[in-house]
Amino acid sequence: MAEKNQQTPSTGRTVHLKVRRQADPKGEPYWEEFEVPHQPGMNVLSALMEVEARPVTREGKPTTPVAYDAACLEEVCGSCTMRINGHVRQGCSALVDDLEQPIVLEPMSKFPTLRDLVVDRSEMFQMLKRVKAWVPIDGTYDLGAGPKLSERVRERAYEFSRCMTCGCCLEACPQFNDRSAFMGPAPIGQIFLFNNHPTGGQLRDERLEVLAEPGGIAECGNAQNCVKVCPKEIPLIDAIAHLGRQTTFHAIRRFLER
Ligand code: SF4
Ligand code: SF4
Ligand code: FES
Repeated sequence: MAEKNQQTPSTGRTVHLKVRRQADPKGEPYWEEFEVPHQPGMNVLSALMEVEARPVTREGKPTTPVAYDAACLEEVCGSCTMRINGHVRQGCSALVDDLEQPIVLEPMSKFPTLRDLVVDRSEMFQMLKRVKAWVPIDGTYDLGAGPKLSERVRERAYEFSRCMTCGCCLEACPQFNDRSAFMGPAPIGQIFLFNNHPTGGQLRDERLEVLAEPGGIAECGNAQNCVKVCPKEIPLIDAIAHLGRQTTFHAIRRFLER
């Protein structure tokens, strides 16, 4: 009987990778190619692990292992997001057998590159802080069960709660770039989630204020690229349409209250 932990044997084929590399945030990008043993069911991250185990280029030149981020290995944390054959997606769920070779790996282009395929996505996390993407509770003591949600509201909230802050939607959004202050679709989705939560809704007006500011919802060009690339199929366009109307009503109300 085979050992349970035995490594999956190679199929005898190889996988050809072409990786855009960069030594540090200020370094010049360059390309390196690798050929690693093919295993059944392998994904892009397992191919990169093979490079890690034997960091030698296709031409036989010793090199450094390719740096990449990963944590959950099951498309939940979003950290392994990169451009694979020109499409932004997660390395852990990109099966090698479904990809054309050479498999071209590049870091996301909308965030600063730290090293190789690792980027700094902190701008997105800062934005979540700015829009107060949380349910405000006071203290750490047991507050008991939260308010009950109807099944319809719960289902809707679940769709938006699946956001893993991967950044795919920002990578695809033409309005999210160096020349604009646009916050991008992911934080807008989270505003929708928390504004519709019975307790999270306490900060509704503060979030709408941020949406009305420069960099807010008015800068969405409605190209809808975001919804096409979201790996969690989050209905971002519904959130943008809904919050666009709410932000307008909020601005009118604020004007009349002056
Ligand atoms: S609809 Fe277009 S412009 Fe608006 S957030 Fe999505 S991709 Fe960006
Ligand atoms: S909305 Fe989708 S694409 Fe955007 S960060 Fe969340 S999970 Fe990723
Ligand atoms: S490692 Fe977490 S999404 Fe890929």
